[in-house]
Amino acid sequence: MCKTPLHGFLAALPKAEHHIHLEGSLEPELLFELAIKNNITLPISTDSAFASIESLRERYQNFRSLDDFLGYYYIGMSILINESDFEALAYAYFTKAASQNVRHAEVFFDPQAHITRGIELSTIVESFRRAQIRAEAEFDMTTQLIMCLLRHLPLSGAMETFTQAKDAGYFENGTLTAIGMDSSEVPFPPPMWKDLYDVARELGIRGTIHAGEEGPPIYVTQALDVLGVQRIDHGIRALTEGDDTLVRRLASSKTLLTMCPLSNVKLNCIASVESFPLRRLIDAGVRFSINSDDPAYFGGYILENYCALQGTFHLGIREWEMVSKGIIMGSWCTEERKGQLLLEIEDVVNEWAKVVEEQ
Ligand code: ADE
Ligand code: ZN
Repeated sequence: MCKTPLHGFLAALPKAEHHIHLEGSLEPELLFELAIKNNITLPISTDSAFASIESLRERYQNFRSLDDFLGYYYIGMSILINESDFEALAYAYFTKAASQNVRHAEVFFDPQAHITRGIELSTIVESFRRAQIRAEAEFDMTTQLIMCLLRHLPLSGAMETFTQAKDAGYFENGTLTAIGMDSSEVPFPPPMWKDLYDVARELGIRGTIHAGEEGPPIYVTQALDVLGVQRIDHGIRALTEGDDTLVRRLASSKTLLTMCPLSNVKLNCIASVESFPLRRLIDAGVRFSINSDDPAYFGGYILENYCALQGTFHLGIREWEMVSKGIIMGSWCTEERKGQLLLEIEDVVNEWAKVVEEQ
């Protein structure tokens, strides 16, 4: 729990999460449990961090860079083998998110990282789907799946996985909502993936991409110009280093930036939360959301990210109302669902505004 006076309000605030990698929600406890169950040997002989849950958690405190983190991320997810493993992973995230009043979640997954280990796409997708159905029934939470392709692998592999998903009807029947791209950012600039995003766009499939996390602001411009994406995941360097033309363009195009403050600090993209460009985002009218990215690795789920910002920037209730409504407006859920969530936000804001006024 954070020490800000608005902690109770931030906890109660209805939230939507747009940038969470399901594989990044793999807590060390589940990682070790599934490694034992599936007879997977963790690389203890080459990395003593894998000796115990505690030493692994300790190692997670000190990532040097995105690639340093990704090394642990890919080893971690190698313990996911059976349908029940994938379902357990997603269900654990939905349960935790629901406890922090996430009312709508658009979640990433990395099929290529599993397919290259011999796991079928249908095993992955259908297991996640089962967890989604449970989350909807038990927590009244709406969820959507975004399939990320890996940018450290060749375009041909991304195309193959995309085609497989398309041929299975996953986009047409709504099982998958969009495509994204993640993994190492530099030196893989967005134009490398033009063919993939062209095909997706022609089929009416939405696109997002990680850009401007470690990569320069020009990657964000290229993602908009060449890939025609509707969203940018992270995009922080467009705000910390980008010129006013780019920031104005992001604002006027209503491009959603899915921001992840604790991730940015943990991966040394910014020195501390103080350097997070919250004021520039708000002042310029850029649409953004606040997300956890890889919560099991970066020391916090969505609420901890809200609290970290509040501890530094001390927004008022009405400012949080504006930010929260922008987050809902930038979601890919139905208009009807957006309407419900906006009303839920108003209820909580009005209740807390009264409490604060009475103090
Ligand atoms: N995959 C999981 N987390 C990621 C991040 N923060 N950046 C790029 N790829 C990722
Ligand atoms: Zn991410």
